[in-house]
Amino acid sequence: MVHKKESETEPRLYGWIRTTSAALTHLISASFTVFVAILSRPGTSWFSWHPFLMTLAFGFLMTEAILLFSPHGFFTKTLSHKTKGRVHWILQSLCVFCAVLGLAAIFYNKHLNSKPHFTSWHGLLGLLTVCVVAAQSLAAVPLIYHSLVKGWSLAKLKRYHAASGLITYLLGGCSLLLGLCSAWFTASVGEYTWYLSALCPALGALIIMNQVSRAYIAKQRLQS
Ligand code: HEM
Repeated sequence: MVHKKESETEPRLYGWIRTTSAALTHLISASFTVFVAILSRPGTSWFSWHPFLMTLAFGFLMTEAILLFSPHGFFTKTLSHKTKGRVHWILQSLCVFCAVLGLAAIFYNKHLNSKPHFTSWHGLLGLLTVCVVAAQSLAAVPLIYHSLVKGWSLAKLKRYHAASGLITYLLGGCSLLLGLCSAWFTASVGEYTWYLSALCPALGALIIMNQVSRAYIAKQRLQS
């Protein structure tokens, strides 16, 4: 059976909505990170690095690393799939690097102030998120060096990678949201700014969830 490309079968309006939402996600991921950077002023204290590096890791780098596979992505839709794969793993490695540094900064800051560690929901979920993103990136190595695993087809590996990547992204979004509920952030912004800030990870999660599940469903349809 011949399957038409998605862009050939869906109304033009849908294509326009998807292009707009991809552009909006680029804008949100960049402006949210710049906003947190302005607020935390990285370099002014050990603490200041934490919100900045974590927002850079999960709000910007990981969002862009996934968004680049969108057929409607603004800067990357003309790139070949191979190039997208390369840019993806570079952005993901940077994400893990920033996340580990961000965790080290808050850990050291608490140690300096003799405060107990991992006592809040944000701290606990955040720790889990950093461990999961590091494990997810390690588990992705066989996608580049396929000979490392026996008995797993590349298609299957990619499916598992996409599904676990989405879960990791959602964990990152939840940790960001809990970070926005922290005493530091709520004291730094007004009520409207808080709601606007909370919208950023929430919208990003919705758009990325939609992108990944559509790509997965489209592949299932092609295989059936
Ligand atoms: C996905 C992103 C994030 C992750 C993975 C994360 C992770 C963590 C972890 C593991 C801790 C506990 C460290 C310890 O107890 O030694 C922590 C603490 C903290 N984080 Fe984050 N964080 C993230 C984003 C943010 C953001 C965006 C903000 C602020 C807007 C923030 C503000 C804080 C504050 C104020 C603390 C100290 C109080 C507490 O332990 O709850 N975090 N974070």
